[in-house]
Formats: sequence, structure tokens, C-alpha cells
Amino acid sequence: MKFYITTPIYYVNDVAHIGHSYTTIASDVIARWKRLNNYDVFFLTGTDEHGAKIDAASKAKCKTPQKFCDEMSAKFKEAWKLLDISYTDFIRTTEHRHLVSVEKVIQILSDKGLIFKKKYESLYCVGCERFYAQKDLDENGCCHLHQTKPTLQSEENYFFKLSSFQNAILERITNPNHEEYLEIQPEERRNEIIGKLKLGLEDISFSRIAVEWGIPLPFDKRQTVYVWVDALINYMTGVGYIENENRFKKYWPVDAHLMAKDILWFHSVIFPAILMGLGLPLSRKIYSHGFFTLNGSKMSKSLGNVISPQELVDKYGVDAARYLTVTLIPFGSDGDISWEGLTLKYNEDLANNLGNLVSRIIKIAEKCFDLHVPYVEQNLELAKNTSAILKENFIVNMDNGQLHKAAQDLQSVITFVNRQIETDAPWKLIKTDMNKLAACIYSYLQAVDIIAMYLIPFMPTISKKIWQITGARGDMDEVAKKYFLDSIIPENGFSPSNAQLQVFGILFPRIC
Ligand code: MSP
Repeated sequence: MKFYITTPIYYVNDVAHIGHSYTTIASDVIARWKRLNNYDVFFLTGTDEHGAKIDAASKAKCKTPQKFCDEMSAKFKEAWKLLDISYTDFIRTTEHRHLVSVEKVIQILSDKGLIFKKKYESLYCVGCERFYAQKDLDENGCCHLHQTKPTLQSEENYFFKLSSFQNAILERITNPNHEEYLEIQPEERRNEIIGKLKLGLEDISFSRIAVEWGIPLPFDKRQTVYVWVDALINYMTGVGYIENENRFKKYWPVDAHLMAKDILWFHSVIFPAILMGLGLPLSRKIYSHGFFTLNGSKMSKSLGNVISPQELVDKYGVDAARYLTVTLIPFGSDGDISWEGLTLKYNEDLANNLGNLVSRIIKIAEKCFDLHVPYVEQNLELAKNTSAILKENFIVNMDNGQLHKAAQDLQSVITFVNRQIETDAPWKLIKTDMNKLAACIYSYLQAVDIIAMYLIPFMPTISKKIWQITGARGDMDEVAKKYFLDSIIPENGFSPSNAQLQVFGILFPRIC
């Protein structure tokens, strides 16, 4: 089965910070999880490079917009490499393949009579790259997100008949039995969209006359395509809309879009309307997470108030940085991030719980059996319990994008195995019953192997390291795929008796 997942394409006027990283790592965790579950995954990310905002940012740096975009887009790629993001393709809206795709979409919509010309006057926020009605602004007339006053713009533009899709979109968002049901998570956000939709939809301007840095309309080269329309079409271009028809047929429609709530409206209303206008199937699911502040303030590079991927990796290492970023704040809620909060979670979940579990088992195995646990009774009870607990909760949570809950499930099971070790008190068995001690260690190793397989999506490197430490057999990804398919634990376990265990430095050194 195929699974097509996307992140938003990020504006290149900013560099990647922990907010962008959250969405991208969360998408990566889901993509890796689906791959482990034998899906053929297409994972798209990229950069949004047109529009007035990017034009202004490039001018401020005295660079041509293209040069500016090339440099900034490369920085996003570097950040995702650093965070071990396994995307299938990286789309840039200044690429030729995208220009062709946008032209085609606009031409089809126009041929279908869905585009018309109209004189228009409204308030425009360049930060958001969108028009606002007075009622959408705060009491000072400022945009809620940027806290700046939108400017009055008056243009003759090409409009899209968005209003004619109101009922069709409502039906697809509200009726789970509709064959094109568009699921929006979480419920609260879905209800906001439904409420807003019920108030009615106005036609929307799809072009700009005053913005040069954009894709010219195929039928009127004096105007450029509105940057949000240009941007949304990336989801089609990236999977081959024009350049690879077979790939497009294979992966379309999108199975999961991830983003924060700030851009949910565009994905749940405008993009579906474009797709319906084109006669293409709608995306299936949107996961909308909350918006994060840092130490109580908006994150912004100019305020110097950001946490960068590099800083995260320098402090915690790549895998821990990935884990902490996506599990610190409950999915769907807004939240405040701080270094203190990240370090606290690192010490609790990783140093004290997971790291301690692996290290205490290996220490006893080293001390008592020189890292070869002899064959005795092969007890798989603990492994079966570990597997059953994870199967029940983790899978559902992952499928609902509740990554922080899936991580909690992992933590509970790690605590469960740590408690079993306390109960068995293997350090006492050293003096009394070496056979029982060997059996206990064998059983802990199998449980740890199962935990490590569930950890793969969050910690692709450390999970494999644990697999080596415990002397588990076979290519971990292949073994895990088989295990997730049939949930059967091999008769001799994953780490056989007498396997060569490995000592290692501390997996997660405590951080003060
Ligand atoms: N270019 C548009 C998206 C077009 S998609 C067709 C855009 N870009 S953006 O660079 O502003 O990225 C917005 C997204 O980045 C958010 O929806 C979210 O996924 C992520 N985040 C950036 N800052 C964030 C926070 N402070 N908190 C949470 N997520 C944030 O909008």
C-alpha cells in the first residue's frame, strides 16, 4: 500500500528553527513508522520561494531573489540532513517542474470557467501573504500572528470561484461516510474550520499585479499567481503531476498533511477547492498541531528568540533532539518550549529510564557472563507482555499523530521492564542462582529488542545501536518489518542465548 505524507513548504525568509523542526520531524517519524509497517511511502518537504515577503527579504540582503532563495533553501536542506530526515523529495517552488505544473493548474481552472477578473480592495498582511477582513484583526487592527497593521491594497485581479465549493467542502469535512472524506485532527480545529465554513465562502483573488517575484499567469503575463496558490500546488508537482505521470497516479492523493494551525484554512478549504476544480481526488487527512513559543515569546530570528536544529543536536545528539522536539508538547496544543523543559525530559525519559535500562542489563551480563549469556530456560513472558502493551496503545496513537502519547507508551513499557528488574533483583541472584540470573537477563534482552524496534521512527540511529548492544540477530529494519506484520516473537527470541553482547559508552549522559 502507498502512503503519501507532506510537510508545509517553508518560507525562505527564515531559517529552520524548532517550530519548523517539529513538523518535519513529526512527519519523518510517521513516514518511518509507515515504512516499518510495509507501506510504500512518499515523503515530501521543500521550500516556498515566491511572493512579496521573499522579494523584500532578498532586497534587504542586496541579493537577487533567486540567489537568496538558493542559499536559504540549501540551509533548510542542511537542517533536515542534520536531523536525519528521510524525505523522498525536496520541492522548491522556483524549480521549472513547478512552474509548468502551476501554469497547467491555472489554465485548467480558467478553461473550466472558475477564474474571472475583478477589481478588489482589501487589507493585506505581507507576513501572512494573505488578505484579511477588518473583523479578522485584533482590537488595534493588527494581524494576530505578526502584530503588524495590514496595508490597504487595491488591484484588478483574477479571482477563483471559491464560493461555489462551500457545500461540497463542508460535506467532505463533516461526513465520514463520504468517499472523499477529509479528516481533520484534532477535533477542536476541525470544528473551527466547520464553523467558519458555515459562515460562507467568498471568492478569492488568485493573482497579483504588484508582485513580480512569482509565476506569471499563463493567460496574462502582467500578473503573477498568488503565492499561496503557487505553494499549495507543490503537493502535486512534488509527486510528479507533470513530469512523472506514473508516479503521480501511484501516490496521489496525499494521505497526510502535517502543519501548525496557522495554515490549516488553506489546506482544508482552498486546496480542496482547487482539487475539486481540477477533478482530482482530495487529500485524506490533515494533522494540525499547535503553535509554540519560546520562554513565553513568539519565535523569531530577528528577536534572537529561536532554538536551531544545530543547537539542539549539539546539546542532546541527533536522536535525542528528534525525540524531545516531537514529544515535549502534546500534539494539537499550543505550548511553551524552554531549554529547561527539554533537558528535564531528556534526563527523565532518556538518561534515567531508557539509558539506565540498557546499561544495567549489560553491566550484569558483563560482570557475570563476560557478555555471553549462556543458554538456559528461554523465557519470553516479559517480551510478550511488552509487545502486548505496545501493540494496544502505541499503534493507535501513532496512527492518530499523537506522537507524544506514543512516546509515553514507550516510556511506560521501559518503566515496566525496569520494575521487573527491581522485582527480580538480579544482583542478589549472583550469589544464589546463576541459571536463574541467565534466564532473567535473556528475558530482559528480548524485551529491550522489542522496545528498540518501536523506537526506530523516533531514534533511527540509537535504536540500531541498542540492537547491536543486545546482540540481536539480522538486519533490524527487516526483522522489525516482519515483526510489525505478524507480531510474532521468534521462538529463540531476537537476541539468542550466547549472543555476543556489546559494551558501549553511556547512551544518554545526564545533562545538568
Ligand atoms: N510557506 C507557507 C506554507 C505553504 S504550504 C503549502 C508557510 N511557511 S512557514 O515557513 O511560515 O511555515 C509555517 C509552518 O512551520 C507551520 O504551519 C508549522 O508547521 C511550522 N512552524 C513554524 N513556526 C512554528 C511555531 N512557532 N510553532 C509551531 N510550528 C511552527 O506558512
